[in-house]
Amino acid sequence: MTSLLVTDIAELVTNDPHAQDLLGVRQNAALLVEDGTVAWVGDTGQAPAADEVVPASGRAVIPGFVDSHNHLIFAGDRSEEFAARMAGQAYSAGGIATTVSATREASAQQLEDNLVRLLRQAEHSGTTTFEIKSGYGLTVESELEALRIARRHTEETTLMAAHVVPAEYKEAPDNYVDLIIDQMIPRAAQEGLAKWLDVFCEEGAFDIAQTRRIVDAGLAHGLKPRLHANQLSDMGAMALAAEVGAVSADHATFVSDEDLARIAEVGTVLTLLPSIEFSTRQPYPDVRRYHEAGVTVAIASDCNPGSGFSNSIPFCMAIAVRDMHFTVEQALWSATAGGARALQRTDVGALTVGSRADFSILDAPSYRHLVYRPGVQQIAEVYRAGTLISSNPSPFTCKELP
Ligand code: NIG
Ligand code: FE
Repeated sequence: MTSLLVTDIAELVTNDPHAQDLLGVRQNAALLVEDGTVAWVGDTGQAPAADEVVPASGRAVIPGFVDSHNHLIFAGDRSEEFAARMAGQAYSAGGIATTVSATREASAQQLEDNLVRLLRQAEHSGTTTFEIKSGYGLTVESELEALRIARRHTEETTLMAAHVVPAEYKEAPDNYVDLIIDQMIPRAAQEGLAKWLDVFCEEGAFDIAQTRRIVDAGLAHGLKPRLHANQLSDMGAMALAAEVGAVSADHATFVSDEDLARIAEVGTVLTLLPSIEFSTRQPYPDVRRYHEAGVTVAIASDCNPGSGFSNSIPFCMAIAVRDMHFTVEQALWSATAGGARALQRTDVGALTVGSRADFSILDAPSYRHLVYRPGVQQIAEVYRAGTLISSNPSPFTCKELP
Protein backbone atom coordinates (compact mmCIF):
# COMPACT_ATOMS: atom_id res chain seq x y z
CA MET A 1 0.00 0.00 0.00
CA THR A 2 1.22 3.52 -0.78
CA SER A 3 -0.03 6.59 1.00
CA LEU A 4 0.06 10.30 0.23
CA LEU A 5 -0.85 13.10 2.59
CA VAL A 6 -1.81 16.59 1.41
CA THR A 7 -1.41 18.96 4.35
CA ASP A 8 -1.98 22.59 5.22
CA ILE A 9 -4.97 23.04 2.88
CA ALA A 10 -6.50 26.47 3.51
CA GLU A 11 -9.84 25.38 2.03
CA LEU A 12 -10.70 21.81 1.15
CA VAL A 13 -13.85 21.38 -0.94
CA THR A 14 -15.21 17.90 -0.14
CA ASN A 15 -18.75 18.02 -1.59
CA ASP A 16 -19.70 15.97 1.46
CA PRO A 17 -23.49 15.61 1.16
CA HIS A 18 -23.80 15.49 4.97
CA ALA A 19 -22.16 18.90 5.48
CA GLN A 20 -24.16 22.01 6.31
CA ASP A 21 -22.91 23.92 3.28
CA LEU A 22 -23.25 22.83 -0.36
CA LEU A 23 -19.51 22.29 -0.89
CA GLY A 24 -18.63 20.74 2.48
CA VAL A 25 -15.71 23.16 2.85
CA ARG A 26 -13.13 22.44 5.59
CA GLN A 27 -10.50 24.95 6.71
CA ASN A 28 -6.90 24.07 7.65
CA ALA A 29 -7.50 20.56 6.41
CA ALA A 30 -5.48 17.55 5.33
CA LEU A 31 -6.32 14.70 2.99
CA LEU A 32 -4.89 11.17 3.16
CA VAL A 33 -4.84 9.03 0.03
CA GLU A 34 -4.22 5.29 0.18
CA ASP A 35 -3.88 3.31 -3.01
CA GLY A 36 -5.55 6.01 -5.05
CA THR A 37 -8.56 6.43 -2.77
CA VAL A 38 -9.37 9.05 -0.13
CA ALA A 39 -8.78 7.27 3.19
CA TRP A 40 -9.06 10.12 5.69
CA VAL A 41 -10.08 13.79 5.79
CA GLY A 42 -9.49 15.99 8.84
CA ASP A 43 -7.57 18.81 10.47
CA THR A 44 -3.95 19.28 9.45
CA GLY A 45 -2.95 19.13 13.14
CA GLN A 46 -4.33 15.59 13.44
CA ALA A 47 -3.08 14.18 10.17
CA PRO A 48 -1.65 10.65 10.24
CA ALA A 49 1.80 9.77 8.88
CA ALA A 50 2.18 8.84 5.22
CA ASP A 51 4.83 7.66 2.72
CA GLU A 52 4.76 10.97 0.90
CA VAL A 53 3.69 14.42 2.07
CA VAL A 54 2.55 17.20 -0.28
CA PRO A 55 2.28 20.54 1.49
CA ALA A 56 -0.55 22.62 0.04
CA SER A 57 0.98 25.55 1.93
CA GLY A 58 -2.16 27.57 2.42
CA ARG A 59 -3.72 26.89 -0.97
CA ALA A 60 -7.16 25.47 -1.74
CA VAL A 61 -7.92 21.91 -2.89
CA ILE A 62 -10.99 20.97 -4.94
CA PRO A 63 -12.30 17.72 -6.46
CA GLY A 64 -11.27 17.09 -10.09
CA PHE A 65 -13.79 18.39 -12.60
CA VAL A 66 -16.14 15.80 -14.09
CA ASP A 67 -16.75 16.90 -17.69
CA SER A 68 -19.79 14.88 -18.74
CA HIS A 69 -20.24 16.16 -22.33
CA ASN A 70 -17.53 16.23 -25.02
CA HIS A 71 -17.15 15.70 -28.77
CA LEU A 72 -13.41 15.07 -29.07
CA ILE A 73 -13.00 12.60 -31.95
CA PHE A 74 -12.75 14.83 -35.00
CA ALA A 75 -10.45 16.45 -37.52
CA GLY A 76 -10.51 19.84 -39.20
CA ASP A 77 -10.88 23.44 -38.16
CA ARG A 78 -13.97 25.62 -38.06
CA SER A 79 -12.47 28.85 -36.79
CA GLU A 80 -13.79 30.66 -39.88
CA GLU A 81 -17.32 29.58 -39.01
CA PHE A 82 -16.77 30.90 -35.47
CA ALA A 83 -15.51 34.24 -36.75
CA ALA A 84 -18.51 34.54 -39.09
CA ARG A 85 -20.82 33.83 -36.18
CA MET A 86 -19.21 36.53 -34.08
CA ALA A 87 -19.82 38.84 -37.04
CA GLY A 88 -23.53 38.06 -37.00
CA GLN A 89 -24.19 34.70 -38.66
CA ALA A 90 -26.50 32.31 -36.77
CA TYR A 91 -25.37 28.87 -35.55
CA SER A 92 -27.13 25.87 -37.10
CA ALA A 93 -26.76 22.08 -36.99
CA GLY A 94 -25.56 22.25 -40.62
CA GLY A 95 -21.94 23.05 -39.71
CA ILE A 96 -21.44 19.53 -38.34
CA ALA A 97 -21.16 18.26 -41.95
CA THR A 98 -17.90 20.20 -42.37
CA THR A 99 -16.33 18.28 -39.51
CA VAL A 100 -17.75 14.99 -40.79
CA SER A 101 -15.91 15.42 -44.12
CA ALA A 102 -12.60 16.22 -42.42
CA THR A 103 -13.01 13.38 -39.92
CA ARG A 104 -13.71 10.81 -42.63
CA GLU A 105 -10.47 11.80 -44.35
CA ALA A 106 -8.35 11.53 -41.20
CA SER A 107 -6.53 8.39 -40.07
CA ALA A 108 -7.31 6.73 -36.74
CA GLN A 109 -3.86 7.81 -35.55
CA GLN A 110 -4.55 11.46 -36.39
CA LEU A 111 -7.89 11.32 -34.57
CA GLU A 112 -6.30 9.78 -31.50
CA ASP A 113 -3.40 12.27 -31.49
CA ASN A 114 -5.90 15.13 -31.59
CA LEU A 115 -7.93 13.53 -28.80
CA VAL A 116 -4.88 13.10 -26.58
CA ARG A 117 -3.85 16.71 -27.11
CA LEU A 118 -7.33 17.88 -26.06
CA LEU A 119 -7.42 15.57 -23.03
CA ARG A 120 -4.02 16.78 -21.80
CA GLN A 121 -5.18 20.39 -22.19
CA ALA A 122 -8.32 19.71 -20.18
CA GLU A 123 -6.34 17.95 -17.44
CA HIS A 124 -4.16 21.04 -17.32
CA SER A 125 -7.25 23.01 -16.29
CA GLY A 126 -8.33 20.51 -13.67
CA THR A 127 -10.55 17.96 -15.44
CA THR A 128 -10.01 14.38 -14.29
CA THR A 129 -13.07 12.55 -15.71
CA PHE A 130 -14.26 12.84 -19.32
CA GLU A 131 -17.23 11.68 -21.31
CA ILE A 132 -16.50 11.34 -25.03
CA LYS A 133 -19.05 11.04 -27.86
CA SER A 134 -18.73 9.70 -31.38
CA GLY A 135 -20.72 11.52 -34.05
CA TYR A 136 -18.41 12.95 -36.71
CA GLY A 137 -17.99 9.75 -38.75
CA LEU A 138 -21.61 8.74 -39.35
CA THR A 139 -20.77 5.41 -41.03
CA VAL A 140 -20.90 2.10 -39.19
CA GLU A 141 -17.14 1.62 -39.25
CA SER A 142 -16.16 5.22 -38.48
CA GLU A 143 -18.56 5.50 -35.56
CA LEU A 144 -17.29 2.24 -34.06
CA GLU A 145 -13.69 3.31 -34.66
CA ALA A 146 -14.34 6.62 -32.88
CA LEU A 147 -15.69 4.71 -29.90
CA ARG A 148 -12.70 2.34 -29.91
CA ILE A 149 -10.35 5.33 -29.77
CA ALA A 150 -12.40 7.01 -27.02
CA ARG A 151 -12.63 3.76 -25.05
CA ARG A 152 -8.84 3.66 -24.71
CA HIS A 153 -9.03 6.91 -22.72
CA THR A 154 -12.27 6.79 -20.75
CA GLU A 155 -15.01 4.42 -19.65
CA GLU A 156 -17.61 7.15 -20.35
CA THR A 157 -18.16 6.62 -24.07
CA THR A 158 -21.30 7.61 -25.93
CA LEU A 159 -22.58 6.47 -29.32
CA MET A 160 -23.85 9.63 -31.02
CA ALA A 161 -24.31 8.40 -34.56
CA ALA A 162 -27.54 10.42 -34.40
CA HIS A 163 -25.67 13.73 -34.57
CA VAL A 164 -26.94 14.76 -38.02
CA VAL A 165 -28.15 12.82 -41.05
CA PRO A 166 -25.12 12.42 -43.34
CA ALA A 167 -25.33 13.85 -46.88
CA GLU A 168 -25.65 10.42 -48.52
CA TYR A 169 -28.94 9.84 -46.64
CA LYS A 170 -30.40 13.32 -47.15
CA GLU A 171 -33.19 12.01 -49.38
CA ALA A 172 -34.05 9.10 -47.08
CA PRO A 173 -33.20 10.10 -43.49
CA ASP A 174 -35.20 7.24 -41.99
CA ASN A 175 -32.88 4.79 -43.72
CA TYR A 176 -30.04 6.33 -41.71
CA VAL A 177 -32.10 5.92 -38.55
CA ASP A 178 -32.55 2.25 -39.54
CA LEU A 179 -28.79 1.90 -39.97
CA ILE A 180 -28.22 3.27 -36.46
CA ILE A 181 -30.83 0.93 -35.01
CA ASP A 182 -29.99 -2.21 -37.00
CA GLN A 183 -26.21 -2.01 -37.04
CA MET A 184 -24.54 0.71 -35.02
CA ILE A 185 -26.34 0.25 -31.71
CA PRO A 186 -26.13 -3.58 -31.65
CA ARG A 187 -22.43 -3.56 -32.56
CA ALA A 188 -21.47 -0.77 -30.17
CA ALA A 189 -23.25 -2.67 -27.39
CA GLN A 190 -21.96 -6.16 -28.28
CA GLU A 191 -18.37 -4.99 -28.63
CA GLY A 192 -18.58 -3.13 -25.31
CA LEU A 193 -17.65 0.17 -26.95
CA ALA A 194 -20.38 2.43 -25.62
CA LYS A 195 -21.99 2.96 -22.25
CA TRP A 196 -24.37 5.72 -23.36
CA LEU A 197 -26.50 6.73 -26.32
CA ASP A 198 -27.05 10.35 -27.39
CA VAL A 199 -29.29 11.96 -30.03
CA PHE A 200 -29.24 15.55 -31.27
CA CYS A 201 -33.00 16.08 -31.15
CA GLU A 202 -33.37 19.37 -32.98
CA GLU A 203 -34.53 20.97 -36.17
CA GLY A 204 -31.95 20.10 -38.85
CA ALA A 205 -30.94 16.97 -36.94
CA PHE A 206 -33.44 14.33 -35.63
CA ASP A 207 -37.13 14.80 -34.91
CA ILE A 208 -39.08 13.47 -31.94
CA ALA A 209 -40.29 10.28 -33.64
CA GLN A 210 -36.78 9.40 -34.88
CA THR A 211 -35.26 10.20 -31.49
CA ARG A 212 -37.77 7.99 -29.73
CA ARG A 213 -37.01 5.04 -32.05
CA ILE A 214 -33.25 5.42 -31.56
CA VAL A 215 -33.56 5.76 -27.77
CA ASP A 216 -35.78 2.68 -27.54
CA ALA A 217 -33.29 0.65 -29.58
CA GLY A 218 -30.47 1.83 -27.33
CA LEU A 219 -32.36 0.88 -24.19
CA ALA A 220 -33.05 -2.57 -25.64
CA HIS A 221 -29.26 -3.01 -25.94
CA GLY A 222 -28.45 -1.58 -22.52
CA LEU A 223 -27.29 1.85 -23.73
CA LYS A 224 -28.79 4.46 -21.44
CA PRO A 225 -29.93 7.72 -23.04
CA ARG A 226 -28.44 11.16 -22.57
CA LEU A 227 -29.89 13.66 -25.03
CA HIS A 228 -29.04 16.96 -26.69
CA ALA A 229 -32.30 18.69 -25.84
CA ASN A 230 -33.67 22.20 -26.34
CA GLN A 231 -30.42 23.75 -27.56
CA LEU A 232 -31.79 25.86 -30.39
CA SER A 233 -35.54 25.57 -29.84
CA ASP A 234 -38.18 23.83 -27.75
CA MET A 235 -39.56 21.21 -30.08
CA GLY A 236 -40.42 18.72 -27.35
CA ALA A 237 -37.01 17.12 -26.78
CA MET A 238 -37.00 17.96 -23.07
CA ALA A 239 -40.43 16.42 -22.58
CA LEU A 240 -39.17 13.31 -24.38
CA ALA A 241 -36.06 13.22 -22.15
CA ALA A 242 -38.36 13.14 -19.11
CA GLU A 243 -40.61 10.54 -20.70
CA VAL A 244 -37.78 8.11 -21.50
CA GLY A 245 -36.03 8.79 -18.19
CA ALA A 246 -32.86 10.13 -19.80
CA VAL A 247 -29.93 10.13 -17.39
CA SER A 248 -29.05 13.63 -18.54
CA ALA A 249 -30.56 16.23 -20.87
CA ASP A 250 -27.89 18.56 -22.15
CA HIS A 251 -27.83 22.17 -23.38
CA ALA A 252 -31.31 22.84 -21.90
CA THR A 253 -31.19 26.41 -23.15
CA PHE A 254 -34.93 26.81 -23.74
CA VAL A 255 -36.98 24.94 -21.10
CA SER A 256 -40.59 25.59 -20.04
CA ASP A 257 -41.70 25.57 -16.39
CA GLU A 258 -43.81 22.54 -17.17
CA ASP A 259 -40.80 20.59 -18.46
CA LEU A 260 -38.68 21.70 -15.49
CA ALA A 261 -41.28 20.27 -13.12
CA ARG A 262 -41.33 16.96 -15.01
CA ILE A 263 -37.55 16.76 -15.19
CA ALA A 264 -37.29 17.35 -11.43
CA GLU A 265 -39.81 14.59 -10.82
CA VAL A 266 -38.01 12.04 -13.01
CA GLY A 267 -34.54 12.99 -11.73
CA THR A 268 -32.92 13.61 -15.11
CA VAL A 269 -29.84 15.82 -14.64
CA LEU A 270 -29.85 19.01 -16.72
CA THR A 271 -26.37 19.65 -18.02
CA LEU A 272 -25.75 23.26 -18.90
CA LEU A 273 -23.02 24.15 -21.37
CA PRO A 274 -22.03 27.80 -20.86
CA SER A 275 -19.33 27.81 -23.51
CA ILE A 276 -21.93 27.02 -26.17
CA GLU A 277 -24.08 30.06 -25.45
CA PHE A 278 -20.86 32.08 -25.37
CA SER A 279 -19.63 30.77 -28.74
CA THR A 280 -22.97 30.84 -30.56
CA ARG A 281 -24.27 34.12 -29.15
CA GLN A 282 -27.37 32.32 -27.97
CA PRO A 283 -29.20 33.68 -24.91
CA TYR A 284 -27.95 32.41 -21.56
CA PRO A 285 -30.55 30.41 -19.61
CA ASP A 286 -31.19 31.66 -16.05
CA VAL A 287 -30.38 28.69 -13.83
CA ARG A 288 -32.28 30.11 -10.86
CA ARG A 289 -35.47 28.74 -12.45
CA TYR A 290 -33.87 25.27 -12.69
CA HIS A 291 -32.71 25.30 -9.09
CA GLU A 292 -36.05 26.62 -7.86
CA ALA A 293 -37.78 23.75 -9.69
CA GLY A 294 -35.59 21.29 -7.76
CA VAL A 295 -33.61 20.06 -10.76
CA THR A 296 -30.07 18.63 -10.38
CA VAL A 297 -27.79 20.76 -12.56
CA ALA A 298 -24.40 19.87 -14.02
CA ILE A 299 -21.94 22.06 -15.94
CA ALA A 300 -19.88 20.57 -18.78
CA SER A 301 -17.69 22.03 -21.51
CA ASP A 302 -19.25 20.37 -24.62
CA CYS A 303 -15.85 20.82 -26.22
CA ASN A 304 -16.39 20.45 -29.99
CA PRO A 305 -15.01 22.12 -33.11
CA GLY A 306 -18.30 23.85 -34.01
CA SER A 307 -20.56 25.32 -31.38
CA GLY A 308 -17.89 25.84 -28.71
CA PHE A 309 -14.22 24.85 -28.72
CA SER A 310 -13.26 25.33 -25.09
CA ASN A 311 -12.29 22.51 -22.77
CA SER A 312 -11.68 24.75 -19.78
CA ILE A 313 -14.16 24.13 -16.98
CA PRO A 314 -13.00 27.23 -15.03
CA PHE A 315 -13.94 29.28 -18.12
CA CYS A 316 -17.37 27.60 -18.19
CA MET A 317 -17.82 28.27 -14.47
CA ALA A 318 -16.99 31.94 -14.90
CA ILE A 319 -19.68 32.32 -17.58
CA ALA A 320 -22.13 30.27 -15.52
CA VAL A 321 -21.71 32.62 -12.57
CA ARG A 322 -21.57 35.87 -14.50
CA ASP A 323 -24.30 35.23 -17.03
CA MET A 324 -26.40 32.26 -15.94
CA HIS A 325 -26.85 33.24 -12.28
CA PHE A 326 -25.12 30.31 -10.63
CA THR A 327 -23.56 31.18 -7.29
CA VAL A 328 -19.83 30.42 -7.21
CA GLU A 329 -20.62 27.47 -4.95
CA GLN A 330 -23.34 26.11 -7.24
CA ALA A 331 -21.03 26.39 -10.26
CA LEU A 332 -18.24 24.44 -8.56
CA TRP A 333 -20.69 21.80 -7.29
CA SER A 334 -22.23 21.42 -10.77
CA ALA A 335 -18.82 21.00 -12.42
CA THR A 336 -17.78 18.29 -9.96
CA ALA A 337 -20.57 16.49 -8.07
CA GLY A 338 -23.13 17.51 -10.73
CA GLY A 339 -21.02 16.02 -13.53
CA ALA A 340 -20.68 12.82 -11.51
CA ARG A 341 -24.47 12.63 -11.17
CA ALA A 342 -24.83 13.16 -14.91
CA LEU A 343 -22.63 10.09 -15.43
CA GLN A 344 -24.17 8.12 -12.56
CA ARG A 345 -20.74 7.94 -10.94
CA THR A 346 -20.43 7.70 -7.17
CA ASP A 347 -16.63 7.37 -7.05
CA VAL A 348 -15.75 10.81 -8.47
CA GLY A 349 -16.89 14.40 -7.96
CA ALA A 350 -16.26 14.48 -4.19
CA LEU A 351 -13.38 14.18 -1.73
CA THR A 352 -14.89 12.08 1.02
CA VAL A 353 -13.61 8.77 2.40
CA GLY A 354 -13.89 6.16 -0.37
CA SER A 355 -13.80 8.64 -3.26
CA ARG A 356 -11.21 8.19 -6.00
CA ALA A 357 -8.48 10.70 -5.11
CA ASP A 358 -9.02 13.05 -8.06
CA PHE A 359 -8.20 16.59 -7.00
CA SER A 360 -6.53 19.85 -7.90
CA ILE A 361 -4.39 22.04 -5.72
CA LEU A 362 -5.17 25.61 -6.72
CA ASP A 363 -2.73 28.44 -7.03
CA ALA A 364 -4.99 30.38 -4.68
CA PRO A 365 -6.19 30.35 -1.08
CA SER A 366 -9.88 29.93 -1.97
CA TYR A 367 -11.96 28.00 -4.52
CA ARG A 368 -13.66 31.34 -5.25
CA HIS A 369 -10.56 32.43 -7.18
CA LEU A 370 -11.55 30.00 -9.97
CA VAL A 371 -14.26 32.49 -10.93
CA TYR A 372 -12.89 35.64 -9.29
CA ARG A 373 -9.86 35.49 -11.61
CA PRO A 374 -11.35 34.53 -14.98
CA GLY A 375 -8.90 33.60 -17.70
CA VAL A 376 -6.02 33.23 -15.23
CA GLN A 377 -4.56 29.77 -14.62
CA GLN A 378 -5.51 28.88 -11.05
CA ILE A 379 -4.86 25.14 -11.24
CA ALA A 380 -1.40 24.36 -9.85
CA GLU A 381 -1.35 20.55 -9.63
CA VAL A 382 -3.81 17.90 -10.75
CA TYR A 383 -4.00 14.37 -9.31
CA ARG A 384 -6.01 11.40 -10.59
CA ALA A 385 -6.36 8.42 -8.25
CA GLY A 386 -3.63 9.96 -6.11
CA THR A 387 -1.12 10.30 -8.99
CA LEU A 388 0.12 13.66 -10.22
CA ILE A 389 -1.02 14.01 -13.86
CA SER A 390 -0.48 17.72 -14.54
CA SER A 391 1.35 20.58 -12.97
CA ASN A 392 1.50 24.25 -13.78
CA PRO A 393 4.37 25.72 -11.81
CA SER A 394 3.86 29.37 -11.09
CA PRO A 395 6.48 31.71 -9.66
CA PHE A 396 3.71 33.52 -7.85
CA THR A 397 2.06 30.86 -5.70
CA CYS A 398 0.19 32.34 -2.77
CA LYS A 399 2.62 30.83 -0.27
CA GLU A 400 5.21 33.28 -1.55
CA LEU A 401 2.99 36.30 -1.19
CA PRO A 402 3.75 38.65 1.70
O1 NIG B 1 -23.24 19.92 -28.60
N1 NIG B 1 -25.47 20.10 -30.78
C1 NIG B 1 -24.87 19.20 -31.35
N2 NIG B 1 -23.58 18.93 -31.25
C2 NIG B 1 -22.59 19.83 -30.83
C3 NIG B 1 -22.19 20.74 -31.91
C4 NIG B 1 -21.51 20.05 -32.95
C5 NIG B 1 -20.93 20.91 -34.03
O2 NIG B 1 -21.37 22.05 -34.30
O3 NIG B 1 -20.00 20.39 -34.64
C6 NIG B 1 -23.06 20.58 -29.61
O4 NIG B 1 -23.23 21.79 -29.62
FE1 FE C 1 -22.83 18.40 -27.61
